[in-house]
Amino acid sequence: MDFKEKIKQLKKEKKAVVLAHYYQVPEIQEVADYVGDSLGLSQKAAETDAAIIVFAGVHFMAETAKILNPSKTVLLPDLEAGCSLAESCPPEAFGKFVDTHPDHTVVTYVNCSAEIKALTDIVCTSSNALKIIASLPEDRPIIFAPDRNLGRYIMKKTGRTMLLWDGSCVVHEAFSIDKLIALCKEYPGHKVIAHPESEEHILKTATYVGSTSGMIEYVKTHPTDKFIVATEAGILHKMQEAVPMAELIPAPAKEDNTCACSECAYMKVNTMKKLYECLLNESPQIEVAKDIREKALIPIERMLELSK
Ligand code: 13P
Ligand code: SF4
Repeated sequence: MDFKEKIKQLKKEKKAVVLAHYYQVPEIQEVADYVGDSLGLSQKAAETDAAIIVFAGVHFMAETAKILNPSKTVLLPDLEAGCSLAESCPPEAFGKFVDTHPDHTVVTYVNCSAEIKALTDIVCTSSNALKIIASLPEDRPIIFAPDRNLGRYIMKKTGRTMLLWDGSCVVHEAFSIDKLIALCKEYPGHKVIAHPESEEHILKTATYVGSTSGMIEYVKTHPTDKFIVATEAGILHKMQEAVPMAELIPAPAKEDNTCACSECAYMKVNTMKKLYECLLNESPQIEVAKDIREKALIPIERMLELSK
């Protein structure tokens, strides 16, 4: 079956919009109405007038879209599309942690569940994290969750101390520093660019650190350069399209990683077939309980307001 044509037809018939993250397989990115990073996707979800939003990404992203659009149908091609970072922050334990620090402002990275967002003062993404933290008074104590690597990076860049939750992304922690150093020696003309979910030793090798869209914008300013790209390999599709003359090499993963090029298994459970079927059957749908949704909406809206 030609899923591409069928999906296009169904999108039209059902007034649906497909929002895809850069880590989706290229075919999904090609059929999407918008491809972006977590911030861009939340902004598109907030402004769309489509009746149905199909989220080609992971659960927390679709959940954010549902929180912003409670009356719309929000679909995720496969409910198994989770996130190790979101899973590393269970609501009960996090609730206790927050309760023991009542004077702290709670900032959470968007890669967390709706329950965690409901315990949050302001959400951020890797695109706007520095700006969000800078918006808080300097003497304000801060809890940052769930990503310890992004948290550490923010502390280094802003000079502020924050209480960090000990969560991480399995994909970005899979990069091997030894192999990366060897690769840099083999290709001395290549610059390392990295996502801030990567470990500190990886970030230290990078000439640019930023979100997925930040990394694409950066290479666009150096279109004929050579890069080693330390984030999920799906980004290479749009990145290479943006800079056809640039040489791009994915950063190497550790030996024990199942994929040599650091693919996110959660992102990759979505397929064209599942995307087609979910649009056809309008299932699986994302639902968020009203009390959680109402609380989680406040920190998301604060972030969107500060990101204008
Ligand atoms: P950004 O797209 O916001 O850079 O985040 C990367 C990521 O890990 C999404 O899950
Ligand atoms: Fe989560 Fe990491 Fe996959 Fe992003 S790349 S969805 S943070 S596991």
